[in-house]
Amino acid sequence: MPPNYLPQVRSQYEALPYPPRDPEDDRKRLALTWLEDLPMINHYCFAGKQSFQNGFRALVAGAGTGDATIFLAEQLRTTNAEVVHLDMSEASTALAKERADIRGLTNITWVHDSLLNLPTLGLGKFDYINCSGVLHHLADPDLGFRALRSVLKDDGAIGLMVYATTGRTGVYQMQALMRLVNGTQTDDLHKLANTRDLLASLPPSNWFMRSEDLVHDHKAGDAGIYDLLLHSQDRSYSVGELFDWLGDGAKEGQHSGHGMHLAFTDVQRGRSPYLPHMVLGNKPPVMANALRQLPRRRQYEMAELMIGNIITHSLYVTRDASCTAPYGNAEYVPFFFHEPLTGEMAAQVFGSNRGQPFILKHQHSRMSLMVNPGKYGAKILGLIDGRKSFGEIFDQFRAEWHGKAAAPNNEVLFADFAESYEALNALDRLLLKHPEADAVAAN
Ligand SMILES: C[S@@+](CC[C@H](N)C(=O)[O-])C[C@H]1O[C@@H](n2cnc3c(N)ncnc32)[C@H](O)[C@@H]1O
Repeated sequence: MPPNYLPQVRSQYEALPYPPRDPEDDRKRLALTWLEDLPMINHYCFAGKQSFQNGFRALVAGAGTGDATIFLAEQLRTTNAEVVHLDMSEASTALAKERADIRGLTNITWVHDSLLNLPTLGLGKFDYINCSGVLHHLADPDLGFRALRSVLKDDGAIGLMVYATTGRTGVYQMQALMRLVNGTQTDDLHKLANTRDLLASLPPSNWFMRSEDLVHDHKAGDAGIYDLLLHSQDRSYSVGELFDWLGDGAKEGQHSGHGMHLAFTDVQRGRSPYLPHMVLGNKPPVMANALRQLPRRRQYEMAELMIGNIITHSLYVTRDASCTAPYGNAEYVPFFFHEPLTGEMAAQVFGSNRGQPFILKHQHSRMSLMVNPGKYGAKILGLIDGRKSFGEIFDQFRAEWHGKAAAPNNEVLFADFAESYEALNALDRLLLKHPEADAVAAN
């Protein structure tokens, strides 16, 4: 393997594969990854029209011990799709292979190499590339991103996760502290012992201790402690820096960005922690509506600072905004996702204040937001069953209409339902698919 990787990073992941996984656990449960749920990929990357049936190709770059590889391969088991697992750590890949063997998965290709070699590896082009927790460990993350793009189909998408600066404030202070404590020490076991020793004694006022509940790795053994607090190559990004880098580019005089569209989706919370009106939803300030009118990027930058607890940025990077399934097209089928939510349950919640704005307290994400369900929001939610399109839902709505005036047309119903949709979609609890995708899948 040409040595275009950082030797100390490679030796870390050979000695301590990450995340630590016991292949035997695969007999009992399937580990899910937030970005790789196919309905999410379909909604945010393929405008809801991807059937995953026509030779779909996925690459997991810096795939580690295999969570994303295995989850994708399991979901694509009955298709002719291929999943390519690429990592420079042999030890990590060996664990991932063992997991795949236990599951009897035969749709994975294993590549032991540096992702920086992707432009010349001859692996072909991919519809979807996952690169989670990897680019921030490269000497030149942009070189890594360009390597990924070189093997991405024109209409393909990248599911990316990189560290977030604000939420990891305490982590970076702890890393700085450990560099001071460990000095010229090169023995990893010694460094780990020092870290454990100190963690047990730090006062609650320490910034890592103050924000300890945001991270878990240091409680998950040596691999976790090393990855979180002793990593030799680790950088983070603010959401603004990601827009600069991957989106429309930085301020004048700096290099231009990749011009791609960024759809953020924080684990369990969707894009809600990037939206000031959702972050402040419990007790909206006077300025809440004014903030909502600001450009998307500015809102996201403010929300990241307001909420403070985004520790990683998870996002789909696509060629443009049209890759997200559009709201307002009657052909699309809305469906609840990530929770066993039914139309009936959602109708009850959204109808609880007789059509007036109410505070939606969402338990799983711990987000609270003010929602205006409109005149018809609760009724429309009640008709969602994951099979009917908006057009069919609205037809049924009109068939059951008892008002004196004429029943509202699709345009009026879409406008009325917009805020209910936005609230649930921002939490990634309500997604869209186009019937075209299901039709191919059924053939
Ligand atoms: C923090 S782990 C993340 C693993 C996996 N993506 C996940 O989220 O579970 C980082 C992984 O990236 C791999 N890696 C780092 N630099 C790489 C490179 N240049 N080429 C290929 N893999 C690399 C490491 O070997 C390691 O397995």
